[in-house]
Amino acid sequence: MARKRVAILISGRGSNMVALIEAARDTSYPAEIVLVASNEPDAQGLERARAAGIATAVVDHRPYGKDRQAFEHALQAAIEPHAIDIVCLAGFMRLLTPWFISHWDGRLINIHPALLPAFKGLDTHARALAAGAKQHGATVHFVVPEMDSGPIIVQQAVPVLPDDTEATLAARVLAAEHRIYPQALRLVAEGRTQKTAG
Ligand code: GAR
Repeated sequence: MARKRVAILISGRGSNMVALIEAARDTSYPAEIVLVASNEPDAQGLERARAAGIATAVVDHRPYGKDRQAFEHALQAAIEPHAIDIVCLAGFMRLLTPWFISHWDGRLINIHPALLPAFKGLDTHARALAAGAKQHGATVHFVVPEMDSGPIIVQQAVPVLPDDTEATLAARVLAAEHRIYPQALRLVAEGRTQKTAG
């Protein structure tokens, strides 16, 4: 079966992007990373993608102001020529509109640094510590219009330790993220999991 063609959308460091690129180096992996696109021209991940020989695109959101859909049309235009099958959000820090999400319905996945449905949104590690959570973790899920709410593909829990700081907890969760994102993309690329309608 042909490998699925994947675009990764990033806004920053790109460590999850690197985890996906590394998994896809194995030619038996069912997906290949053909494009990395960022809304942040200075995203560190862009350099890392270029170093890995992957095509990159920058679509700065700023010129579009509040017009999210105009930004997304430009993003879509950058993605389109690459015949992409699956889009992976990896630290992509823009909310997407239903227009973009419905275009990619069932083929758009995201990684979130918490055990969804707990701790949707930002600052998940600080909030998990403040709540006295004993477990925290990471989730890969299909994207739906409601933020951080789509069907879950893979989750991994990590313990919260008594002397954890936001930084130590974030590092433990990030290691879990790097394990589960390649697993989740494999499941989607092989068609072994599917988002149900709606
Ligand atoms: C990751 O922890 C990812 O889960 C999180 O941003 C970080 C990006 O790191 N994503 C979100 O918070 C999405 N709302 P990375 O650029 O090194 O992959």
